Amino acid sequence: MEKTINEYISGVRSILSGKDSPPLAHVRSYGCQLNFSDGEKLKGMLSKMGFGMTDAPEGAEIVILNTCAVRENAEDRVFGNLGFIKHCKKKNPGMIVGLCGCMASEEHVVKKLEKSYPFVDLIFSSSALDKLPKLVYELLSGKKRAVDTGEYNMPAEGLEQLRDSSFKASVPIMFGCNNFCTYCIVPYVRGRERSRRPEMIISEVRELVKKGYKEIMLLGQNVNSYGNDLEESVTFPRLLRALNEIEGDFIIRFMSSHPKDAGKELIDAMLECEKVERHLHLPVQCGSNDVLNRMNRRYTVEKYMETVNYLRSRVPDFSITTDIIVGFPNETEEDFAGTLKLIDEVKYDNIFSFIYSKRSGTKAAEMEDLISDEEKGSRMTRLLALQREITTREFKRFIGRTLRVLVEGIGKQEGFLTGKCSEALIVEFEGDSSLIGSFVNVKITGSKNWAVTGHIDQIN
Ligand code: 5AD
Ligand code: SF4
Repeated sequence: MEKTINEYISGVRSILSGKDSPPLAHVRSYGCQLNFSDGEKLKGMLSKMGFGMTDAPEGAEIVILNTCAVRENAEDRVFGNLGFIKHCKKKNPGMIVGLCGCMASEEHVVKKLEKSYPFVDLIFSSSALDKLPKLVYELLSGKKRAVDTGEYNMPAEGLEQLRDSSFKASVPIMFGCNNFCTYCIVPYVRGRERSRRPEMIISEVRELVKKGYKEIMLLGQNVNSYGNDLEESVTFPRLLRALNEIEGDFIIRFMSSHPKDAGKELIDAMLECEKVERHLHLPVQCGSNDVLNRMNRRYTVEKYMETVNYLRSRVPDFSITTDIIVGFPNETEEDFAGTLKLIDEVKYDNIFSFIYSKRSGTKAAEMEDLISDEEKGSRMTRLLALQREITTREFKRFIGRTLRVLVEGIGKQEGFLTGKCSEALIVEFEGDSSLIGSFVNVKITGSKNWAVTGHIDQIN
């Protein structure tokens, strides 16, 4: 019979117990918050196996790169880092080198690793996360290379997690994506949508709040389709309402929402739940209906604006942010002008913009693209300039208001702290580092194009 995760963990523990000092593990995650959350689970399992954690690959007995495949430059960085790790392994030939995450689900990457990177001993996909103890056990028992890039399973519940923060916690509510936007690799590397059971999510959040966590970030590629694959009738707005009922002083954030599924029901739930942030991240990608159609986004600019207008009719200055892709294959100057017009109309507090990156295996990779890199770069510069103007103007609306801020760390200036308010803006103010991890009220007195600034009103 196949051993359980815990049996493999004990197996590794007993192999390691002969060592004088606990061996060290280095885990490096790239990309999105879901990947960082997976990284925390990898660290949790390694720590149960008896490894201590280290921030540097030198001196580690096991190094794991938890990779991202969403854009080419993320992949290039991983291959660059593998070069350095090869050098570390030369000094310590017993080191286990592992690669997991989205790149491990790409056939061409696995082939390249198998052919040209013989020092990579361990390759496993995001859905095989809980196989780590088994794979490490096999390697320590003499196997040359352990690989599991198999099925898109639901990762095991209840995995030990070594969280990076003691007050901010990420909670995945679903895995995978069904949308197949034509530029995006995610559905190919993370598989179809699989929702976690609501009671598992609710009990995890309840435990986190009990432990003192102040920010719960719910994660999914498209949180609005949460529950579609479950038998009971549970939707994301209902999940939000259930989590809002949990007693305690904490804020609920979430990402991302697909505009085709974000409507009145979501907005009503957000506005009625006092613990839910006053911010919506609504990735529009582009302001041209022709490009949106070729992206297979399944909404139009008009439909997107309906959602924005409904939200703004309820709360006129509600904070909205977005993702934009510049230079989708054959994006015309007119299409791009549509994007500029849209961002001017919505008045986003912030945008996350990316130059289109061709991902092999996706539909867009087959599309003709006559736009030069120079032109794409120039569009990106124009987009950022316009957004900087908008952000600078929009942030001024907070001057004079008092915002409740979760203090996250030390600010850029000496003696200053940085945090985030319900509207997801960065807030900087003077204060003592003992406040990190707690809520404070900050009276806003100024703004920059990346943050608002002020002073503490009263500690609560
Ligand atoms: N090229 C550029 N940006 C991309 N994104 C996803 N795939 C690509 C790609 N191939 C961006 C989208 C998405 C964000 C997470 O990453 O804007 O919303
Ligand atoms: Fe990619 Fe679209 Fe799914 Fe987001 S919704 S992960 S952009 S395919």
